[in-house]
Amino acid sequence: MNATPMDLYPDPVESDFAATDTTAMATETTLLNPRFYTTDFDEMDRIDVTPVRPAWDKLIAQMKSDPNKGHFKKNADWDAVDWQGMDPLLRREFIDFLVSSCTAEFSGCVLYKEMKRRGSNPDICELFSYMSRDEARHAGFINDALREAGVAVNLGFLTKAKKYTYFRPKFIYYATYLSEKIGYARYITIYRHLEAHPEQRFHPIFKWFREWCNDEFSHGEAFALLMKTDPKLTTSFANKLWIRFFLTAVYSTMWVRDHARPEFHKALGVDIEWYDQEVFRKTSTIARQIFPIEIDIDHPRWKPSLRRMNAAFLAMDAAKRKGGVGGWIAGKWAAARAAAAFVSIYTIPVIHRDLPENVRLEPSY
Ligand SMILES: [Fe+2]
Ligand SMILES: [Fe+2]
Repeated sequence: MNATPMDLYPDPVESDFAATDTTAMATETTLLNPRFYTTDFDEMDRIDVTPVRPAWDKLIAQMKSDPNKGHFKKNADWDAVDWQGMDPLLRREFIDFLVSSCTAEFSGCVLYKEMKRRGSNPDICELFSYMSRDEARHAGFINDALREAGVAVNLGFLTKAKKYTYFRPKFIYYATYLSEKIGYARYITIYRHLEAHPEQRFHPIFKWFREWCNDEFSHGEAFALLMKTDPKLTTSFANKLWIRFFLTAVYSTMWVRDHARPEFHKALGVDIEWYDQEVFRKTSTIARQIFPIEIDIDHPRWKPSLRRMNAAFLAMDAAKRKGGVGGWIAGKWAAARAAAAFVSIYTIPVIHRDLPENVRLEPSY
C-alpha cells in the first residue's frame, strides 16, 4: 500500500513549536533537501565573458544599481502573525517550507561568496559578489520570519556543519540556472495567485515575492550568459543528455517536495499539481533562451510518472521508519520504483528548440 503524506510525520504534532530544531532540519542532507555545493572555482575563474560582453555589461550594471536595496525590510505591510493560533499541521508545513527556502537561498549565498572570494577574474568576482549579496538578504529575510516564530536557523553553524556536494562547473551551471529560474517561477506564481486571492495570504512574507523573484530572474540570466560563452555546454550530444537529466531531477524533486506539504498548499488555496505544472511551464518557456531541449510536460506519461515517483518516495520513507529486515526490503523495492519512475520521465521524447541569437530575457509573468 502506498504511504500517505501523514506517514512522513508520524509523531504527534508538537504544541510547543519552539522545540522544532530548524537548524537540524536545515543541516540534514537527504535526496530532497536543498544542498550546499562546491566546485572547481579555478575553472570558473577562467571564464571569458567577451563573447557576451554587451549583454553582460548591461546585466551587471542592473545588478550594481541594486534595485532591491531597501526591499527586504519589514514595514507596515508586515502584518502581525498569529503563530500560536495557526493550525498545528499548517504551522509545521509552513515552517518546513520556510526552512527549506532559507536553506536554498543560503546555499546560493555560500557558493557565490566562495566564488567571489577565490576568484581573480574581475567580471566573475563582480557578478558573484552581487549575487551573494542578494541571496544573503533573501535568506536573512526568511530567517527573520522564522525568528518571529522562535525557530530561526543558525546560519553560521550551517556553513560549518552542512555537507557540501561537489559539482563540476558545468553541472553547477545547469543546476543553478534551473534553480534560479524555478525560484523565479515559484515566487511569481504564488504572488500572482495571492494577488487574485488576498484572503488566502496567511503570512505577510508572500507580499515581498514580486520584487524578490526579479532578483532570482537576474541570477538565472547571469548563468544563461555564462553558458552562452561556451556553446558546447548546450549543444554537444552528451551535454544535452546532461541537461535532460537535470531537468528531470530538478522537476521531479520539486514535485515530491511540494506534495509533502498538503496543508500549506491548501491554506494558500493552491492545487499542488496545478501549481507545479504552472511552475514547470513558466520555467520551460524561459529556459528556451539557453536549453535546446525541453521536457514535454503535456506528455501522457509525465504526470502519472511523477505521481509514481511521489508514491515511491513516501514508501521509502515509511520503510525507513519501519526498520528491520522488512523495512530494508521495502526500502529497496521503493527505491527501485522511484528509479523506474525516473527512467520513465527521462525517456519521454523531448521537444527540440533552436537557440536564439540573443540570450537575454526580461521577467514577464
Ligand atoms: Fe534568492
Ligand atoms: Fe538567486
